[in-house]
Amino acid sequence: MRITSTMAETRELYSGGPVGLVPTLGFLHEGHVALLEAARDECGTLAMTVFVNPLQFNEAADLERYPRNLERDVELARDAGVDMVFAPSTEEMFPLPVATTVSLAPLTARMEGAHRPGHFEGVATVVTKLLAGLRPDRAYFGRKDAQQLAMIRRLVVDLSIPTEIVPHPTVRESDGLALSSRNVFLSAEDRQAALALSRGLMAAANAAESGERSARVLEELVLDTIAMADGVVPEYAELASASDVDRLDTADVDCFLAVAARVGEVRLIDNVHIDVNPDGVVADRGILMDRPSVLYSQAENL
Ligand code: PAJ
Repeated sequence: MRITSTMAETRELYSGGPVGLVPTLGFLHEGHVALLEAARDECGTLAMTVFVNPLQFNEAADLERYPRNLERDVELARDAGVDMVFAPSTEEMFPLPVATTVSLAPLTARMEGAHRPGHFEGVATVVTKLLAGLRPDRAYFGRKDAQQLAMIRRLVVDLSIPTEIVPHPTVRESDGLALSSRNVFLSAEDRQAALALSRGLMAAANAAESGERSARVLEELVLDTIAMADGVVPEYAELASASDVDRLDTADVDCFLAVAARVGEVRLIDNVHIDVNPDGVVADRGILMDRPSVLYSQAENL
């Protein structure tokens, strides 16, 4: 495995296709590793990027505080069969002040877009740059970030980027908490309280599979569950179409129910996808791990 710092150097190392790409902010956990393993199965060459993209952090303190541990990321990547880890510095990635930005206003007006001004423009710009510069055949993204996934699926169509976007289910800790690098900042008490997010979403997933289609009812199931947890402050719980993040009154097309909340100092997001088939509704609740996450052993040196 090689660690690279320019896109040209990374491309020169491609040996056999299809070329798979897994973009990350680093501080890997089993959610990232699941993407790497899916990509490894399907690709001849596998590249991962580790880049804490300053364009997508709308709060300077959040960028500063974002956990980093490249050495550990490299070890986990090696174990997952990654061929190259592209880990550029900010200067290498953006040698000039950024003049070209990518924004998908219709898909990012709501939910995360409304609560994190500039965030999605930063994500869309860096992902476009990675896809243009590394030219992978396939790029893998998690359903954990549902609005981000919808946006990236659309931007490759709009900009005729010939990369197939491959979604992957959300990986959860054994008690249901969606894996996130930010989980390391939760106190033991807050971590327990944070389970209200996934509990609410699972209740809504069960209701949807039992025939409930009303967005308002499904959203309230999540908000009511959160209201019972001390110290969890919801920002939103909303149902949106999976294709273009439109507001839905009824879950009658493929959609996702997303929630964001602050737990202590930590802002968490989670969702369930509700896939609507001719013979009914199937909720994608994600994948439960059967052992503690590597995140917590990594967090010791933070
Ligand atoms: P990051 O948060 O590091 O996530 C990298 C990829 O891992 C994303 O596709 C994300 O959806 C996926 N992921 C994160 N947690 C997951 C989980 N619990 N289960 C499954 N997949 C999970 O998302 C970003 O980085 C950045 O915005 C990026 C796309 C790299 C652009 O900078």
